[in-house]
Amino acid sequence: MPAKFVLASLLLASLSSVVSAASSCIASDIHWNLLAFGFNGKDYDAGTQDSWTQGNATDITTTQGRPPFDGSNVTCYLSQFTNAIYFMGADASKPNDIHIYDATAKSWSTQAVQQNSFDPTSSGAILDHDTNVFYAYSGGDIYSLDMELLKAANSTPKAWNDVQKVDWDTSSYQPTVALGQNHIFFLGVPGVNPGSTRIFVIHFSYLQPEPQAFGDIPNMHGKTASIFKDEGVQTQFIYVPDDGSATYLLDVTSNTTQTLKAPMNKDAQATYFATTTAVIQLSSSGSVSYLPIDATNEGANSNSDWATVSNLPVATPAKPSSASGSASGTGSAGAQSTGSTSDGTMDNGAAVLNVGRWVWSAVALMVGAALF
Ligand SMILES: *[C@@H]1O[C@H](CO)[C@@H](O)[C@H](O)[C@H]1NC(C)=O
Ligand SMILES: *[C@@H]1O[C@H](CO)[C@@H](O)[C@H](O)[C@H]1NC(C)=O
Ligand SMILES: *[C@@H]1O[C@H](CO)[C@@H](O)[C@H](O)[C@H]1NC(C)=O
Repeated sequence: MPAKFVLASLLLASLSSVVSAASSCIASDIHWNLLAFGFNGKDYDAGTQDSWTQGNATDITTTQGRPPFDGSNVTCYLSQFTNAIYFMGADASKPNDIHIYDATAKSWSTQAVQQNSFDPTSSGAILDHDTNVFYAYSGGDIYSLDMELLKAANSTPKAWNDVQKVDWDTSSYQPTVALGQNHIFFLGVPGVNPGSTRIFVIHFSYLQPEPQAFGDIPNMHGKTASIFKDEGVQTQFIYVPDDGSATYLLDVTSNTTQTLKAPMNKDAQATYFATTTAVIQLSSSGSVSYLPIDATNEGANSNSDWATVSNLPVATPAKPSSASGSASGTGSAGAQSTGSTSDGTMDNGAAVLNVGRWVWSAVALMVGAALF
């Protein structure tokens, strides 16, 4: 039994590095309907949190202006003033473009962007709530890009502007950035004590020299998601370190941290989004799960646990990644909950089984040889 379990874990671990659903993205509209983009060529509205575990999500795919969702690191951001979602990296052939989904009109448009020295392939970005300006770290510098109040693209290209250099050793720094109270929080910064972040004050373009302590959190690369409020700037964010050891809820007013349940998929390649009442994980194998949170009541979160968003299909990659052979999934083409009714581990299994028998067999042989 233990040997079998180890074998299964190794198989899943090896295979999830072969297949990745990082071409997909999750966000919500301003009514907190969970939207899933680039799921096997389709987009879905999974509704509000009370409907995530029943029935089927609604197919909201429209073709006009929709990006192909074939990039290897798609990221997306809710613009709360415009009820639009902005996408980076959704078209591999045009990595600089920002795609805009107007969630009210359900329409797409493409914003041309001048990169200047900004490198989207190694960046970490937040969308500032109050100004609707992107701030991003790339290659040792902080950049900004003003989205004005766009819910459809402007015919004039936008540009990434270099704001300033950061003051730490960036030679091996992979950005982990979060938004709270009009500040950018940099996590995992080299030379900073565990539990502390560096802070960039957006409205004053000021990189605060003193690190700010938040309590017991690791100083590690990870993923973040700011918790929206019905109105006003986010003041709390979720941080999940790459090892998936916990879900931390940082409050940037009190500068304290709550430690919540670790995600059921410990997945350094996963991405996260947070509504007002939940943090949602899209795993690299395409399954979606969520942790209900009560941002206003600290005591309410200790028993909260992750559950699968079962009304969404499992996302398989839009096209095979270089080493994986035929990865075009045959399952999960519709919104039926195939493979997503049970827990996250089963979802992983369901997703990777689509990769193609030869990969499965090859990895099994390799793992088998290593074990026995
Ligand atoms: C969900 O979709 C599947 C496949 O189209 C269908 O068989 C099933 O009945 C649907 N479930 C509900 C609750 O609508
Ligand atoms: C995707 O992200 C990885 C690191 O996570 C990076 O190595 C790679 O260059 C990125 N690719 C693109 C196309 O952005
Ligand atoms: C929290 O951190 C910010 C930024 O360092 C600081 O301005 C603020 O005074 C701190 N709040 C508390 C309650 O310590």
